[in-house]
Amino acid sequence: MRENKDARGLSIVIIMDGNGRWAKKRLLPRVAGHKKGVEAVRTLVRAAIKRDIRYLTLFAFSSENWRRPAEEVSLLKGLFINALEREIDVLHKNNIRLKVIGDIASFGPRIERLVAASERLTEKNTLLTLTIAANYGGRWDIMNAARAFFRAHPNALDDKTPTPEVLEPYLATAFAPEPDLFIRTGGEKRISNFLLWQLAYTELYFTDTLWPDFDGKTFDDAIASYQQRERRFGRTSEQVQTAQTVSPPHHEIADFSS
Ligand code: IPE
Ligand code: IPE
Ligand code: MG
Repeated sequence: MRENKDARGLSIVIIMDGNGRWAKKRLLPRVAGHKKGVEAVRTLVRAAIKRDIRYLTLFAFSSENWRRPAEEVSLLKGLFINALEREIDVLHKNNIRLKVIGDIASFGPRIERLVAASERLTEKNTLLTLTIAANYGGRWDIMNAARAFFRAHPNALDDKTPTPEVLEPYLATAFAPEPDLFIRTGGEKRISNFLLWQLAYTELYFTDTLWPDFDGKTFDDAIASYQQRERRFGRTSEQVQTAQTVSPPHHEIADFSS
């Protein structure tokens, strides 16, 4: 078995893609792929805990997925409700904190209430933060953060231009560190409006494995690839090798205070 002790403490984000193609290959309806996809999420959460991952963020429904046939959208909503209702106690018992990011008001009051209750129940849990991105879009997130920032700092443009980092407390992911590793299954090599801002210095990993087939082995392949990368954050390789710790560049920039 491959050693993955260095996966400890990582923040990993995943675009779970390929459910439809998984089903099509088996001559099954797309819904069968989505159901199998939920099982793959369960497997993944267990694998993440075993590997001491601290933050796991999963793209479940993008702001563009409303463009799908109404039947599929409603089915995905149903699966989300089911999974939340069925799994929340298990998550809580396992000391997992659940967060949901995205414009969930559009899903209606039932999901909104369920999400709020689930987040409240698990808010003090510390083993793993599991974040589900639902009706999430990276551009929405940035726009939302900008609005909130300028509402809180109406004079922010008066005498100096705010640094980009001032937006971070207003992003939907403000509670989490920047992602270390991004994984996309299903073979496409694109971001599809996921965490646009947050991925600035994240290591990207793409695999042809379809999401329902994703398991501990594929997860370890992604982590092993991450472990071979040198994260330079703009510096030279020589600088990185002599430095004690290397952090993203903006940590060296003073905070905006007004
Ligand atoms: C990902 O699988 C799940 C969601 C986007 C909700 P897809 O449904 O996109 O599967 P493919 O890409 O059609 O195979
Ligand atoms: C991205 O997958 C969104 C999710 C996995 C939730 P899509 O299947 O929607 O992405 P595109 O349309 O192929 O870019
Ligand atoms: Mg897809």
